[in-house]
Amino acid sequence: MANLLVTGGAGFIGANFVHYWREQHPGDQIVVLDSLTYAGNRANLAGVNAVELVEADIRDEDTATTLLRDRAIDTLVHFAAESHVDRSIHGPDAFIDTNILGTHSLLKAARTVWLSGDGKPHRFHHVSTDEVYGSLGPDDAAFSETTPYSPNSPYSASKAASDHLVRAYHHTYGLQVTTSNCSNNYGPYQFPEKLIPLFLINALHGRALPIYGDGMNVRDWLHVEDHCRGIEAVLQRGRVGETYCIGGGEELANLTVIDTLCAAVDAAFAGDPGLAQRYPDAPAARGLPTDSLKTWVKDRPGHDRRYAIDETKARDELGYRPARDFKAGFAATLAWYIANEPWWRSILDGSYRDWVEANYAGRG
Ligand code: NAD
Ligand code: TYD
Repeated sequence: MANLLVTGGAGFIGANFVHYWREQHPGDQIVVLDSLTYAGNRANLAGVNAVELVEADIRDEDTATTLLRDRAIDTLVHFAAESHVDRSIHGPDAFIDTNILGTHSLLKAARTVWLSGDGKPHRFHHVSTDEVYGSLGPDDAAFSETTPYSPNSPYSASKAASDHLVRAYHHTYGLQVTTSNCSNNYGPYQFPEKLIPLFLINALHGRALPIYGDGMNVRDWLHVEDHCRGIEAVLQRGRVGETYCIGGGEELANLTVIDTLCAAVDAAFAGDPGLAQRYPDAPAARGLPTDSLKTWVKDRPGHDRRYAIDETKARDELGYRPARDFKAGFAATLAWYIANEPWWRSILDGSYRDWVEANYAGRG
């Protein structure tokens, strides 16, 4: 039995991880540490048994220290972060504060509690991104654990800095750490600022689908549940001090993702006449193709061209393989968003609308 502290467990991937872990490991203790920023949502944890949510900032070292000590935590899974590239372009400070200083504060707390006294086995697992490796050309080899860091956005630079701090706490102090660098996730509970949920919700409302640049940027898409299984594999079988790249093995150009999404929305409306009544502004409700909403807008500054993951190490050492391909994962995700309208409806409030206005103003 393990005692887990999950930071950022009320966000997209963290909440999926809590759902997944509770199902797979019903006897474990799970405490979530989350400050509930715009991206954190108590509702993401609704229906999960026996999970305690502590509303606090990861930069609050005293709270982290107390939690680690008083709840006898042996496994810290660190998701909490500012995670959206576009927001990091508009306001990098929060990324430096949370992703670098916040991670450092957790490392200090872990060192205080775990490395003093009898030095019991423990694990600090750091959840990171493939974006720390920079951008690939069309013929470059995919990212692996030995690819030099070359972050291009304030988001990826702050995640790179946090990765280095985690590594340093292992080498210098002997903290038992692992890090996973994962590709783009999609699935339930993803905040509708990221490509897939934003475009789905826009499509249902007949709003433009804003494609940055030429739409040919490539991402390696992974269903979030496969990411959770990858983290579980690292926790159970990963070697302390190592990093593992986790990917979907499915490199897709944005336009391919968007065309898949548009066709899936058309098919959903064709198969369920009730959808036209629920979403009368959707083109599909009027017999028009969803892809009529595609709109090319000004590119994101410094937009990375291609990400791809070579997952050989995770496969060979951990036996990790993603279970879903994009087609199956995407169909399940579309069904989830249609079935869970109250979840996303509650997010589309004033602050969300302000963000959309700020990000897309001047791109048209
Ligand atoms: P998210 O933005 O959906 O959730 C982040 C969570 O962290 C939220 O619940 C938020 O309230 C919490 N948080 C933010 N600042 C905090 C602070 N100072 N103190 C406490 N809690 C705080 O992010 P996500 O997409 O779920 O990403 C989770 C992690 O996975 C991040 O570390 C991200 O870098 C990494 N990652 C994400 C992806 C992806 O495709 N989304 C891919 C690879 C890696
Ligand atoms: P995003 O979901 O923000 O993830 P990341 O930037 O971390 O890869 O974006 C995925 C891709 O989709 C990326 O190439 C940018 C592009 N994109 C758009 O074309 N339009 C949009 O409105 C958004 C949010 C993203």
